[in-house]
Amino acid sequence: MIQIKDLYKSFGGNQVLKGVNLEVPRGSTSVIIGGSGSGKSVLMKHMLGLLKPDSGQVIVDGEDVTGFGERKMVQVRGKFGMVFQQSALFDSMNVGENVAFPLREHRKELKDPEIKKIVAEKLAIVDLTGIEHLMPSELSGGMRKRVGLARAVVLDPKILLYDEPTTGLDPISTNAVDEMIMSAQERLGITSVVISHDIASSFRVATHVAMLFEGVLVDQGSPDELRKSKHPYVNEFLSTWFDR
Ligand SMILES: Nc1ncnc2c1ncn2[C@@H]1O[C@H](COP(=O)(O)OP(=O)(O)O)[C@@H](O)[C@H]1O
Ligand SMILES: [Mg+2]
Repeated sequence: MIQIKDLYKSFGGNQVLKGVNLEVPRGSTSVIIGGSGSGKSVLMKHMLGLLKPDSGQVIVDGEDVTGFGERKMVQVRGKFGMVFQQSALFDSMNVGENVAFPLREHRKELKDPEIKKIVAEKLAIVDLTGIEHLMPSELSGGMRKRVGLARAVVLDPKILLYDEPTTGLDPISTNAVDEMIMSAQERLGITSVVISHDIASSFRVATHVAMLFEGVLVDQGSPDELRKSKHPYVNEFLSTWFDR
């Protein structure tokens, strides 16, 4: 679904990505792990065309989008749903209005009853049926994340991007978010890319893991393969989490 080929990106003298190669298979949940500041968000922004590489290629759904201008990139971005670190709900709108927001922006032909029906369907997917009337301030952290997911899938994207979905959550909410990522894959058959420094959570949800270190993906594979990695940094990074 996404291919990154030999991607380089620097900011001034700061070389952040130094030849990243990544394949995100259709229907997979691919997790990119790496320390804080290693360039995970920079890599994700290239998938959305919010940043352009110094060299290398970004291919989305079979289309080389590297040279696309803003107008064409807007269309490509329609294939993506984003789940942000802070769930980024609008505090002044209730849950129903939050989830409906992308529909009101992009599907202006839809009438109110149709919008209500789609919103109810998406809330059911995240096991939050009937909470349209609640305000974001009345929700727990985990519930806010799930509402954020309902909103992210409301336009039926092909790919879901999660940037640090469990950062700052307590263990129970972290579990709920992990369940949510897995059920999005099972129920929607969607391709997910998750960026995280939370190893335990990453290994629970991933079908494919890649480790970003010093500007390259030093190792990638199934969670089991990565656990047995020969790469010294991967070993060190994982050893704090797994008794290996
Ligand atoms: N727009 C930008 N301009 C300049 N430097 C940036 C920009 N975005 C990210 N960086 C730098 O790139 C590096 C990686 O950042 P980031 O991708 O946010 O890390 P993380 O892995 O924590 O998500 C950092 O050194 C950061 O300062
Ligand atoms: Mg980041």
